[in-house]
Amino acid sequence: MKKLIAIDGPAGAGKSTVARLLAKKLSYLYIDTGAMYRAITYFLIKEGINYEDLEALNQALKKIVLDFKVIDGASVIFLNGKQCNEEIRQTIVNQHVSPVAKISTVRHFLKKKQRDLARSTFSVTEGRDIGTVVLPDADLKIFLTARPEVRAQRRWKELKEKGIDLPYKEVLENVQQRDTIDSTRSEAPLRPAIDALLVDTSDMSIEEVVNFLYQKAVEDD
Ligand code: DC
Repeated sequence: MKKLIAIDGPAGAGKSTVARLLAKKLSYLYIDTGAMYRAITYFLIKEGINYEDLEALNQALKKIVLDFKVIDGASVIFLNGKQCNEEIRQTIVNQHVSPVAKISTVRHFLKKKQRDLARSTFSVTEGRDIGTVVLPDADLKIFLTARPEVRAQRRWKELKEKGIDLPYKEVLENVQQRDTIDSTRSEAPLRPAIDALLVDTSDMSIEEVVNFLYQKAVEDD
């Protein structure tokens, strides 16, 4: 049984869904690190803090307490004792989270928090730099990927379901652009750890991916 599981990969590879379902199947804590970057971003916006002002940012970080609690079998993020699942998915947060996630003080602050949380129990931690930076000692490292066209198709469908109808070409360009930014940023770029298991989900269903990873998690080396 692998105690510490890290899942990384680009947007649209199915990471969040797979990580959540895998954690549930294993009865492990699911840690969504993207939600943590989002919660910090939401706090900074709500308090009107200019995150380019390092002093103000440092003061703000001291006032943030993040936690996950399991409610009805799902892990829910808490910011200073309050649930903020919906707030952190707002468009304004989407717009600011990438620049906030680039700031090294923010990454440093969250790295420690993520490590402590992940090691406190049996856990599945999902993000962009989990296998490389946050939990380089993880027992199982997965890098989920999918062809850009497939990821764009999934994103296009997701947006359409939310009532946002964009041309597929625009969504694909956005996916490709984000891939470039994420993999070339100097702070914790998105890349697989040397010892990560690469899984291309392009032609797999969610269920197939979850079952495959479950086998990897429970098998002895
Ligand atoms: O997975 P997501 O869309 O909720 O992530 C939100 C943002 O946080 C996204 O810009 C990538 C960033 N992020 C990161 O830099 N490192 C992580 N471990 C997780 C997310």
